Amino acid sequence: MTAPIPFIDLQAQRRRLGAPLARAIQAAVEGGQWVLGPQVRELEEKLAAFADVKHAVACANGTDALMMVLRAWGIGPGDAVFVPAFTFAASAEVVALVGASPVFVDVLDDTYNMDPASLEAAIALVKREGKLAPRAVMPVDLFGQTADYRAIEPVAAREKLLMLCDAAQGFGATLDGRVAGGIGDAAATSFFPAKPLGCYGDGGASFTNDDGLAELLRSIRMHGQGADRYENVRIGVNSRLDTIQAAILLEKLKIFPEEIERRDTIARRYNEALGQSNSIRVPHVIEGARSTWAQYTIQVPDRAKLQADLKAKGIPTAVYYPIPLSAQKGYAQFPSAPTPASDRISKTVVSLPMHPYLDAPTQDRIVEAVLESAGGGR
Ligand SMILES: Cc1ncc(COP(=O)(O)O)c(C=O)c1O
Repeated sequence: MTAPIPFIDLQAQRRRLGAPLARAIQAAVEGGQWVLGPQVRELEEKLAAFADVKHAVACANGTDALMMVLRAWGIGPGDAVFVPAFTFAASAEVVALVGASPVFVDVLDDTYNMDPASLEAAIALVKREGKLAPRAVMPVDLFGQTADYRAIEPVAAREKLLMLCDAAQGFGATLDGRVAGGIGDAAATSFFPAKPLGCYGDGGASFTNDDGLAELLRSIRMHGQGADRYENVRIGVNSRLDTIQAAILLEKLKIFPEEIERRDTIARRYNEALGQSNSIRVPHVIEGARSTWAQYTIQVPDRAKLQADLKAKGIPTAVYYPIPLSAQKGYAQFPSAPTPASDRISKTVVSLPMHPYLDAPTQDRIVEAVLESAGGGR
């Protein structure tokens, strides 16, 4: 009854993938082209088809996938890139890494995604101060749900901002039938193992419909190579995907749509059971959107108590994210719109176990424990 529950059960998925996965790994090893081998090219084609976008360019991790797009666009010192305050550090880190300035934007406290009104406020702030040139906006598909592109895209178009979608958590999510990865002037995802589509190490990919950008990304990931490997036409980086990771991802991609379905069923079940309590705030998915549920995140008034109570019952929880980037020491020098929602939710959010193999009895055990600890005031 009190056996520990995994937060994400990647071993259940590995068991399901079974012998074909083992064969794919073996073939990648025996093939001998261990970096950017033929499986990487095949993966790029399949990822692009999946997201209905022209190009996918695989690389070493999601952080590089974002950073290389900014580099390819020539974004650097004096440029402003609008980033949510409530996200993983990498979203803002890459902006600083290319020498530009992240400008923090608040999020909505029900979807956790970029607040379009706050984006307007951040743009106005940058224009008023006159020190930075607004160049790009980076909405994040946090916890698996696409940002509200219906509202953000017109602002980006009006302000002539390039839009780079951080789909590290939301690759494969949809909004009005458009697939995250294929939205924006470019997008990027991460294949970190815990992501909805993860490999067995680090990996990432950038996506775009722009032929020129795709070509630049292929050059940048290989030390700025030109027509030949030892011709260096620009300053690049070393950010390539291992063939073995591509082989693993090709197997995982086959079951990814079904896994998204399963995650959605589990999230709905959580929402139904926990949404009945007045003291628990369940995540809101906007109409026309479908999340990949990278995380299932609720808000409770006493998070520490809930975490302790669940831990005592062998139920793990996690806090994404305890401090908004706008309040982080490392990012104190960058401008920010007011971020009341980010400041508030960073104190109340807590994520529950979520993965496609969470069975109903185990989920019931989690729900019961959450309601018992935090469900008062029904
Ligand atoms: C929102 C977001 N952006 C970027 C990244 C960076 O990806 P990676 O860890 O593969 O560099 C992650 C994941 O770690 C993320 O969650």
